[in-house]
Amino acid sequence: MTSDARSAQARAATHWQRFSVPYEFPVVFTEGVFDPENPALRDVLTRLEPAKRHRVVVFVDDGLKAGPLALPEAIVRYAERHRDAIELACAPVLVPGGEKIKAELHFVESVQQTLFDLHIDRHSYVIAVGGGAVLDAVGLVAATTHRGVRHIRIPTTVLAQNDSGVGVKNGVNLQGVKNFVGTFAPPFAVLNDQNFIDSLPERDKVAGMAEAVKVALIRDAEFFAWIERHMDDLATFERQAMATMIRRCAELHMRQIGQGGDPFETGSARPLDYGHWSAHKLESLTRHHVRHGEAVAIGMALDARYSVLAGLLREGEEARICALLEYLGFNLWHPALGKAGANGEWTILEGLRDFQEHLGGELTITLLGGIGVGVEVHEIDRERMRQAMVWLKERAGD
Ligand SMILES: NC(=O)c1ccc[n+]([C@@H]2O[C@H](COP(=O)([O-])OP(=O)(O)OC[C@H]3O[C@@H](n4cnc5c(N)ncnc54)[C@H](O)[C@@H]3O)[C@@H](O)[C@H]2O)c1
Ligand SMILES: [Zn+2]
Repeated sequence: MTSDARSAQARAATHWQRFSVPYEFPVVFTEGVFDPENPALRDVLTRLEPAKRHRVVVFVDDGLKAGPLALPEAIVRYAERHRDAIELACAPVLVPGGEKIKAELHFVESVQQTLFDLHIDRHSYVIAVGGGAVLDAVGLVAATTHRGVRHIRIPTTVLAQNDSGVGVKNGVNLQGVKNFVGTFAPPFAVLNDQNFIDSLPERDKVAGMAEAVKVALIRDAEFFAWIERHMDDLATFERQAMATMIRRCAELHMRQIGQGGDPFETGSARPLDYGHWSAHKLESLTRHHVRHGEAVAIGMALDARYSVLAGLLREGEEARICALLEYLGFNLWHPALGKAGANGEWTILEGLRDFQEHLGGELTITLLGGIGVGVEVHEIDRERMRQAMVWLKERAGD
């Protein structure tokens, strides 16, 4: 057979399967989500089958029990008040908050075991109440149990409310590699309750603001100017300013995922990851003693200076960005940044390779072409990046 005939035969034997699945989920901004008079949770649970009584299991970040809310009791009271629509499959289950739940696989197994023991089916609901780490871990279990159980997220940190909680990803770490095991799985609904932010330690309130500055820098100059105008209110966590900042940031993330053309990140671009290549490395170098947002603030300052050195960003704009970040409460240097590897090169620069490896394909780094303008580049000049590091280090007086 000629090669033409062979490829004609192969074409004739190939059937193309093609379909698309529209995704849709509500992101509700509310206060007092477990106040029995608040219909928000009941409404999202019953939105597909209003007449049914729905089975629900709730996992709660144990960092929340310190708050004044007595959360598990409040959840039980809520379910009792709405017993015609909600059946709690068991009492709310406390799970470890923070990176611990993502780092040690037996926590994931224990969440799985709970769903197994309770005979949770694909029409039941798995609700996670907590920071980004708890949402990531419980979300992974929900997405993989019976190949996908309805999952509702109730994020309780600034970062989870304005960024991770409204997204479509979950994941846990393996052998120290962040989010090595995970899926893309849009939730059934997200409920952002501002009251949770009140009990958050100041450090986490500051850290979450990095994502707002980030998305403003790459997408929305007007939002950046708003943050600058309200930096006094934000630096003192004034309630209304925090609520506006969280909401605008969440909207911009939602728009990128919904309209950016690549919600499940199949390409090599990571447009929302400005400042993140070095941030991920710094987080792992410090074994997560530096929070994600804190590392992102440093990463943004570094890439802003690099953008200036690369002739993309006007000189002076990087200082403006750094001044804002510092005013909001960020430190823009960490000793781990100065760590050198065996070859004498700064270890942080390995972050470039790791970043590329996570997605595969070509290296794609978002830089700044101006305030509000993200620009993708496919090459980073290491010498120039070193100069940007030196600038940052000297600026910090280290
Ligand atoms: N899935 C995604 O798209 C995505 C995006 C960005 C980040 N993340 C992940 O999110 C995680 C970080 O999330 P985070 O910044 O929300 O922090 P976190 O989940 O690590 O929580 C930080 C600490 O705050 C506690 N806590 C949570 N809510 C509280 C509240 N209201 N009051 C008092 N304490 C509270 C937690 O118990 C924990 O000790 C990382 O694992 C990161 O990889 C995921
Ligand atoms: Zn981030």
